[in-house]
Amino acid sequence: MARKARKEEWKVWGNVFDNYTNRNLFKLKGQGYFDELESPISVGKEANIFSAKTKDGKRVIIKIYRLETCNFNKMFDYIRQDPRYAGMKNQRRKVIFSWTQREQRNLLKSRQVGVRVPLVHTCLDNILVLEYIGDDIIALQLKNHFPKNKTKFLNKIIEYMHIMWKKARLVHGDLSCFNILNYNENPVFIDFSQTTDIKSQNAKELLIRDIKNISVFFRKIGLKNVNEEKILKKVLK
Ligand SMILES: Nc1ncnc2c1ncn2[C@@H]1O[C@H](COP(=O)(O)OP(=O)(O)O)[C@@H](O)[C@H]1O
Ligand SMILES: [Mg+2]
Repeated sequence: MARKARKEEWKVWGNVFDNYTNRNLFKLKGQGYFDELESPISVGKEANIFSAKTKDGKRVIIKIYRLETCNFNKMFDYIRQDPRYAGMKNQRRKVIFSWTQREQRNLLKSRQVGVRVPLVHTCLDNILVLEYIGDDIIALQLKNHFPKNKTKFLNKIIEYMHIMWKKARLVHGDLSCFNILNYNENPVFIDFSQTTDIKSQNAKELLIRDIKNISVFFRKIGLKNVNEEKILKKVLK
């Protein structure tokens, strides 16, 4: 009975994906990166997120870029502006795999300079296996878990944007109260899919948009004096 349930459960998960992705999931399972998919966390525009358990009972996050139903043209438009991927050809799978690999590189580089982000356990084609941020319950998005000390939390976000720009030479590009987790009153940046080199044509524009998103959010939750110009100066100083 239990075995049957497990088999059916896999079928449910499996049906979400194409054969290529399923084969890769089996490969990662075989390599011990996870044992069982646990529950779906989110279905985004391009990717599905699951939690999974390893054999020793630890949790990991699996982010899967859908090969069939992602907005591949948008991905291509974004990634070709990143000098690290200049000359990228308009080939569906190649673009999606590079998109996934770029997120891994962005996460690693940001982590190296001191930004708190999920550790990357591994990356295979369109799949990322990431550190699970949370304890018994998964860490909540900032939008659903306001910080106790708002000024301190905002200052940490600004510091992270600053070291990303100055040391990692990256701009997050999709920073918002959705892509920052509040984990034990500390920000954790996630979702580095739009993160790009500061030499990209649109880097400054993305930075200004990130700052605007964050400022609007913190003004809404009570920090009336948040000033976008001042934050921009701090990030670029
Ligand atoms: N490493 C992680 N630990 C905990 N929760 C995560 C992690 N990565 C993603 N999530 C959850 O899944 C949601 C979607 O992930 P995200 O990387 O932002 O994908 P999308 O590109 O679809 O927005 C996040 O907003 C967050 O709630
Ligand atoms: Mg997101």
